[in-house]
Amino acid sequence: MHQGGGGGSRARRTRDSCAAALANTLCSLLLGLLLVAGVVLFVLWLGLRPHRPRFNIASFSVAGGLDPDSSPAGASLAFNVTDRNPNRHIGIYYDAMHASVHFYDALVASGPAFAAGWYQPNKTTTSITGRLDVRGPDTTDASWPTFSAAVRAGRVPLRLQLTTAIRFRVTNAFHSGSQRMHVSCDLVVAADGDLLPDSVGAACDRYL
Ligand SMILES: *[C@@H]1O[C@H](CO)[C@@H](O)[C@H](O)[C@H]1NC(C)=O
Ligand SMILES: *[C@@H]1O[C@H](CO)[C@@H](O)[C@H](O)[C@H]1NC(C)=O
Repeated sequence: MHQGGGGGSRARRTRDSCAAALANTLCSLLLGLLLVAGVVLFVLWLGLRPHRPRFNIASFSVAGGLDPDSSPAGASLAFNVTDRNPNRHIGIYYDAMHASVHFYDALVASGPAFAAGWYQPNKTTTSITGRLDVRGPDTTDASWPTFSAAVRAGRVPLRLQLTTAIRFRVTNAFHSGSQRMHVSCDLVVAADGDLLPDSVGAACDRYL
């Protein structure tokens, strides 16, 4: 009985080490497969990863021009920003877009640029145009002396900001998650309210 017990435990040990070897082989095989799948996915992602859209300022103008002695509030301004989807196979969904214009920290204008969302197909360029009511700066604002001096000098630096959210459409069934996007265009207008030549076509920054 004592011997029988010893033989049984030896057999169990053999069986256990056999199971361990099998588990080891299966484990190595699985790890190898995972690694290969990881490399394949990484290469696919490198080739297919979505690129952010590109924005350039095409035109900007404050109707009636700017006056160093009176506030531009009440005038209207118009902008046109070109929006390029550089992706060969990926389309982009945009949410409604909000626009604002600042002179340093002072708000000049804000409002909707696109009230509803839209879809931009792969490899296409769209124009984002908008018209906003100018609200400031007022002659009593802290920023007025700087603004007035900039108008007098014929170089008024403004920042046009567009805010929206985008989703990439990879296939009909596969869309990326929605992410907020801020587009910031630095531009300089002359006293006549139009873009200075060196601002025409300038690239905008994008933050996702
Ligand atoms: C906006 O600018 C683009 C590029 O210059 C031009 O093709 C397009 O016609 C402009 N759109 C409007 C509404 O002015
Ligand atoms: C846009 O993507 C589709 C699907 O991937 C493709 O068949 C088509 O050729 C692409 N269009 C352009 C202009 O690249």
